Amino acid sequence: MKRSHKKALLITAALAFTAQAAAAGKVEIFSWWAGDEGPALEALIKLYEAKYPNVKVDNATVSGGAGTNAKAVLKTRMLGGTPPDSFQAHAGQELIGTWVVADRMEDLSSLFKSEGWDKVFPKDVLSLISTGGKEWSVPVNVHRSNVMWYNPAKLKEWGVSAPTTWAQFLTTCTTLKGKGVAAPLVMGENWTEQHLWESVMVGSLGSAGWQNLWSGKMKFTDPKVVAAFDTYGKVLDCANKDASGLSWQQASDRIADGTSAFNIMGDWAAGYFTTTKKLKPGTGFGWSASPGTNGTFVMLADSFGLPKGAKDRAEAVNWLKVLGSKQGQDTFNPLKGSIAARTDSDISKYNVYSQSAAKDWRSNKIVGSMVHGAVAPESFMSAFGAVIDQFVASKDSAAATAAAQELATRSKIGQ
Ligand code: GAL
Repeated sequence: MKRSHKKALLITAALAFTAQAAAAGKVEIFSWWAGDEGPALEALIKLYEAKYPNVKVDNATVSGGAGTNAKAVLKTRMLGGTPPDSFQAHAGQELIGTWVVADRMEDLSSLFKSEGWDKVFPKDVLSLISTGGKEWSVPVNVHRSNVMWYNPAKLKEWGVSAPTTWAQFLTTCTTLKGKGVAAPLVMGENWTEQHLWESVMVGSLGSAGWQNLWSGKMKFTDPKVVAAFDTYGKVLDCANKDASGLSWQQASDRIADGTSAFNIMGDWAAGYFTTTKKLKPGTGFGWSASPGTNGTFVMLADSFGLPKGAKDRAEAVNWLKVLGSKQGQDTFNPLKGSIAARTDSDISKYNVYSQSAAKDWRSNKIVGSMVHGAVAPESFMSAFGAVIDQFVASKDSAAATAAAQELATRSKIGQ
């Protein structure tokens, strides 16, 4: 055999081997974006697979809003030494206070440098994903928690407008009940009750008061917090009685079909209304800042990290690169209802709801969400659900605030 021929054969064999190895590439991405919540993630996966055609994404989801079920499964896997290659977590204390302090995550600082991310993510977002001067996860979006959703045609029919304070909300609630609307407010399972609680607190205490609660400057037992719980109790009286059996999507459905007038939910509801239900923002559904929170943007960000011991590390790093890229963020977010975490996003790709959120994101006072991981550690978040459950049943503000303070002390909030 001629030498050149032999060399060619060897090269072909080597290439075939590489292609085979690459074809077997895979990466497991873990999140709670299943079913109705899936389209944005699926679009991102499609983009990844187009960029890396030899890698198959294993889209591992555990359904359940706000990650209530997924977080429990993740914990078992992390502690059992079988982490997914990359997983969804909220930017902030949820990831930092759990998996970063436990030394289970890789430091992503060099990736932030090489991708230029330290320049394209805003300071508020960078500080949420950093500790000790290092970055620990890549944010794919910014969601807003304090939004009130309604059905514009139904409000018109009932002759009411969207209330701008909680006092006004209660008056509107009485008016609507008088018109035969049994549940002016629709709520879902436990975490959505906490979500409503968060909006009532920010609307009652103001953005500074809310921040003081998490820095430890204001105690849960402060009379202002007790009074805010009283308001929350009255707001709950406007809600449906079958809340515990409803997912957040089912609660949103009751706005779309005109059963209830208002729902307080994060702007993944906008993604659901537009992407899943094909409703038009402004006519199919309306929105305003939840009562008392105009000018404040309660934010959270979904972020993906790289656990130590990830089996498909190189593919996972590429996943992070795609979701942190401008193209990745502008593929994912228009479907999700969130806005890009990056500052250079192409806003013309977004609908009018998201454009209004982007404007508020730039001009409002930014504070973090508790329910969605930004301001409190998992130890507080996971136990707070029981405090709210108790309160929903008893409406005892003194008992609830005392229990919340005990929990805050135990979780070292503000210490
Ligand atoms: C949030 C999450 C959102 C959305 C929502 C409902 O915690 O950040 O992206 O998935 O839960 O499940």
